[in-house]
Amino acid sequence: MSDGVGSDVIRIGVLASGTGTNLQALLDAGLPIVVVVVDRPCAATGLAEAAGVAAETVERTSFGADFDRLAYTHQVVDALERHDVDLVAMAGFGTILEKPIHDHFGGRIVNTHPALLPAFKGWHAVDDALAAGVKITGVTVHYATLEVDDGPILAQEAVEVRPDDTVETLHERIKVVERRLYPEVLWQLVRREDEAGTPDEEAAT
Ligand code: GRF
Repeated sequence: MSDGVGSDVIRIGVLASGTGTNLQALLDAGLPIVVVVVDRPCAATGLAEAAGVAAETVERTSFGADFDRLAYTHQVVDALERHDVDLVAMAGFGTILEKPIHDHFGGRIVNTHPALLPAFKGWHAVDDALAAGVKITGVTVHYATLEVDDGPILAQEAVEVRPDDTVETLHERIKVVERRLYPEVLWQLVRREDEAGTPDEEAAT
């Protein structure tokens, strides 16, 4: 499956919603990203396009009680499938997805979380850490499972909380670590899969 994206085996789909600085770090690291899927208009789309990577918007039309999360999840899976994705990297994706994505990509979905899990799960991890008065928080790169922010941990790194920190200053220092750690971990997974894939490919020729 070699198409010049830097890996003979793995094709990564990134899910993003926000400013996309983690996405940019993954793109800069030369990871074999074949598509970026966003759930709302956001900077990530432009970053993908600037890097020559396909961008798909699966727009979330409701943030209310009428949101059909299951149908939405199927749409995201379809978008990833259209690009033959093998590994899903969540990079600040703002919609919790339902079981179908785990049925489809089980054990092949990775996330970065701006806290030291299992502490401070959820979307407000940085605010919650600051409010709790902890002196150390950090970054967790982990496999994503149906239970939010709960999957097996791949890597963690601590970040000091300074007395004068605001949510913004602390989150930015956390993201500096994420932008280094997340690409490193994803490259390890890609290399491991590439190595695992090689004997089968040779045997098939
Ligand atoms: C990151 O801190 C990520 O861990 C969290 O959302 C943030 C996304 O930042 N889930 P960006 O959009 O990549 O700048």
